[in-house]
Amino acid sequence: MPANEQFTHRLNELLPDIIREFGTPFHIYDEQGIRDTVRSMYLAFAANGITEFRNYYSVKANPNLAVMKIVADASGDALGFDCSSVPELLLSRKIATGDRIMFSSNNTSAEEFEIALADGSSILNIDDISMLDSLTSQQLQSASMVSFRYNPGAERSGDAIIGQPEEAKYGLRKDQLYPAYQHILDKGVSRDKIGIHTMIISNQREKSYMLETVKMMLSIAEEFLSQYQIRFNFINIGGGIGIPYRTNDSSFDLQTFAREAAAELKSFSAKSGYMPRLFMECGRYITGPHGVLVTKVLNRMSKHKEYVGVDACMSSLMRPAMYDAYHHITVLEKNDDSPQEVVDVIGSLCENNDKFAKNRHLPKTDKGDVLIIHDTGAHGHAMGFNYNGRLRPKELLIGVDNKVRMIRRAETYEDYVRTLEV
Ligand SMILES: Cc1ncc(COP(=O)(O)O)c(C=O)c1O
Repeated sequence: MPANEQFTHRLNELLPDIIREFGTPFHIYDEQGIRDTVRSMYLAFAANGITEFRNYYSVKANPNLAVMKIVADASGDALGFDCSSVPELLLSRKIATGDRIMFSSNNTSAEEFEIALADGSSILNIDDISMLDSLTSQQLQSASMVSFRYNPGAERSGDAIIGQPEEAKYGLRKDQLYPAYQHILDKGVSRDKIGIHTMIISNQREKSYMLETVKMMLSIAEEFLSQYQIRFNFINIGGGIGIPYRTNDSSFDLQTFAREAAAELKSFSAKSGYMPRLFMECGRYITGPHGVLVTKVLNRMSKHKEYVGVDACMSSLMRPAMYDAYHHITVLEKNDDSPQEVVDVIGSLCENNDKFAKNRHLPKTDKGDVLIIHDTGAHGHAMGFNYNGRLRPKELLIGVDNKVRMIRRAETYEDYVRTLEV
């Protein structure tokens, strides 16, 4: 959905001044909203007795240090970052170390493992059994903890973004799990430092799906306890909690999910005599709804369809082109009562899928009108690129004090050519 009411209210009041000061386009994030979401997530689990719940914020969702600091501060002791690459890991180390960082890469090189394990050992989440060849006993022992990513294959279904588990390039098959754990035990990893991870869904708003994942992981934990006397320190069910991008989408029922997940954990504990910690690595749920992309109408064009050309393009927000994803759009100072029209909202990239919206009913716009593209706080700016020499826009933040500051400047021509050797 469409940014929440408080954010919309704050934004609409401030936007004319922000645009005067910073120009368009830009992503802008709402500190208060991010803090509230982080806190409500931890409270939901704590209220059900799961006090050691930890969300490793998925850095790929929004790798801006200012945003990460807000997430960290709001998380307090439960802080964690999920990093899929060395640059994400190095960025996270500006805020956290040790078991507060989960290095969860795939198709990883020996050099990447080396960096991940130097200077403050992270949790190592290993994506494939073959990668054990790149890790020495010393390295494995130096990790805060070690886990493997499980891919359940045909047992579970995925979604359009992440793919079906059977088709997905991620994770170990069930029959590969035990040999993998046996290998790390043989290499001297301590039994109390072993966890298990999975991530099989993206943008899922149905809590029953996530609960199935908790049950699936607990069933593996049960098997590992009875067959191999292995107790998992944690089960990490990944990220993937969805947000309502469309106005009529329902929200993920976190309160019920936390209650039901807690019940599963308690029942496991009663049977097995221990309770693994529950970890997640949500990005979208934490920051997605608390950011918007603000862009101005550059051109009105009438071809075989009506086009609204704006000053942002898919280098600022890839999701519509990449996944045909819906992002709600509103027009500053216009609403449903304003005269309406059906348009495609386009950027300037030489790709016909450079469209923020197709056949969208919107208030009629003219050159200079301001469009607000919602829910860009996760996997928005982060997915940007430079094809066509299109440069990524700035990022701004509305603080809890309602002050606005720039947290990343716009790219310049100098950035575009910086890596050239001539
Ligand atoms: C391994 C892993 N963890 C976490 C996430 C974060 O997902 P989301 O932002 O949808 O919660 C992703 C997203 O692609 C992922 O691949």
